[in-house]
Formats: sequence, structure tokens, C-alpha cells
Amino acid sequence: MLKEGDFRSKVAEGCLDQTMAYTSAVNFVWTAVIARSQWKYLQRCYRYIYLDAGHIGQNFYLVAEALNLGACTIGAIYDDELNNFLGIDGKNETTIYVGVVGK
Ligand SMILES: Cc1cc2nc3c(=O)[nH]c(=O)nc-3n(C[C@H](O)[C@H](O)[C@H](O)COP(=O)(O)O)c2cc1C
Repeated sequence: MLKEGDFRSKVAEGCLDQTMAYTSAVNFVWTAVIARSQWKYLQRCYRYIYLDAGHIGQNFYLVAEALNLGACTIGAIYDDELNNFLGIDGKNETTIYVGVVGK
């Protein structure tokens, strides 16, 4: 555990105030540590990071469907707000994608 508390408002604000990020049961904020991909793929790392995020998002939808849950991925995010909330710098590690899930 990094931080304990009720962070619904913080995450929803970082998702352009989309209500589902406030009312969902669980929110996932996926980040990338750029160097973990860049050492191997150099400038192509960004392409692969976004492709990876897409694969993660699709698996997120498949698992939610299998568990009979409602899910939505969110790309409309304020990067800086979510990065500040998570305590990451947006350069070495940055928010890429969000997934919200609930009944
Ligand atoms: C990359 C990406 C970003 C998305 N961002 C948002 C978003 O910010 N807000 C939202 O309501 N839905 C978002 N969605 C969900 C889509 O609007 C849509 O509901 C979802 O892809 C399922 O589409 P379907 O119901 O037509 O199959 C996003 C989907 C993807 C793939």
C-alpha cells in the first residue's frame, strides 16, 4: 500500500470529472516507467507502451465481462493531475490509461 484513503474525487477530477470514475467500485490508473521499455526499444518504446496499454485495456474488458461487471477504459485524462496525485513525475513514469469497474 502506498497511500490509504478515499480518492474518488481525486481520480474523477483527473478524468475530466467523468462521473463513472467517482461512482465505480475500483479504478485502475495504469502508468509506464519509460526506461523499462526504452533501454531495448529506444524511441519506438512509446509505440510499444501504448500498444501494451491497449492490450491491458482489452484484457480488463474481458475479465470484467467474465465477472459480469461493468467496465470502461478512460483515455480522457489530465496527465498532470493524475501524475501529481500518484506522486510520479510524468517523465520517468507517467500515467497512460485509466480503467473503472463496478456492478
Ligand atoms: C483508448 C480508449 C479511450 C477511451 N476513453 C473514454 C473516455 O474517456 N470516456 C468514456 O466515456 N469512454 C471512453 N472509452 C470507451 C469508449 O467510449 C467505448 O465505450 C468503449 O470503447 C466500448 O465501445 P462499444 O460499447 O462501442 O463496444 C475509451 C475507449 C478506448 C479504447
